[in-house]
Amino acid sequence: MREAAERVDHEALDASPDQGISGGYAYFQGAIVPFASAQVSIATHALHYGTGCFEGIRGYWNPDHEELYLVKMREHFQRFVKSARLLKMELTESLEELAEITLEVLRRDGYRQDVYVRPIAYKSSPVLKIDLHTPANGLAIFALPLGDYSSTTGLRVTISSWRRVTDNSIPARGKITGSYVNTALAVEDAQAAGYDDCLMLTEQGHIAEGSAANFFMVEGRALVTSPVNDEILVGLTRAAIIRLARDLQLEVRERSIDRSEVYQAEEAFLCGTGVQIGPILSVDGRPIGSGRPGPVTTALKETYFHAVRGEDPRYREWLTPVYQ
Ligand SMILES: Cc1ncc(COP(=O)(O)O)c(C=O)c1O
Repeated sequence: MREAAERVDHEALDASPDQGISGGYAYFQGAIVPFASAQVSIATHALHYGTGCFEGIRGYWNPDHEELYLVKMREHFQRFVKSARLLKMELTESLEELAEITLEVLRRDGYRQDVYVRPIAYKSSPVLKIDLHTPANGLAIFALPLGDYSSTTGLRVTISSWRRVTDNSIPARGKITGSYVNTALAVEDAQAAGYDDCLMLTEQGHIAEGSAANFFMVEGRALVTSPVNDEILVGLTRAAIIRLARDLQLEVRERSIDRSEVYQAEEAFLCGTGVQIGPILSVDGRPIGSGRPGPVTTALKETYFHAVRGEDPRYREWLTPVYQ
């Protein structure tokens, strides 16, 4: 499994999220193949109806350790399996096999830079019937080099007029491909209006989350975040932040958040695998706190980045080394 792999031409790859991936390898139809040859039919069920689910796992390169660390890989695959079950997909690969395949794809890619791993399970048959049991299931896993998905120094956000999908329409706790239309509609309008990103409300008017990240605000020595039943994807970065906050002697409150509380917050930030930690500088033009990243956000961000790069032994259990 670990013999020296053919290296990908890194020059040809871009670490920006709006560049397409063109090189490397992919797990596809039960085998690891060159990325370019992993192709699906234009009649694929998931392409038409959004019947897929996915994960995003970051890998951080540590040049001193000469190691690529995957963050919370097992937890990502546990959530992946649960998302798949919502779509009545039972993956044939076990959690251990999913992890082993991912490591093998990455070893063949040979990246020595930060990466993002994308597992996707999808309804693969070229059939028109809209249900969950007729089409067969497919699984693919690939990785791409990725730097920052969005700014980690400061975000100007708006509250979207689009509401977050509800648990009784498309459950936000599943990472379901079709529900990212909700995200795309909201981000598109936010960016067209000149904002970096947006917060999305539940139908009841509470803050659910960012477009692709969970929301936190600071209240004295406490962190407040939306509860799991306010239409959020229950983020693994959110769990990491809760752990880091407690280690920094901060209290953590999971409770519904009103829109006007956000306008008055001392500090606020978004967090997620892609977004990492994005301090919120203003919401709808109203500065948050001083309008600069606050001390709590900054302390959490610094600790988080040390942890994921393998520089803090307290959080070493979050990481899986790729090359060992
Ligand atoms: C809608 C949404 N919420 C929250 C998150 C954060 O989840 P995690 O920290 O597990 O990446 C994501 C993904 O990154 C997301 O797409």
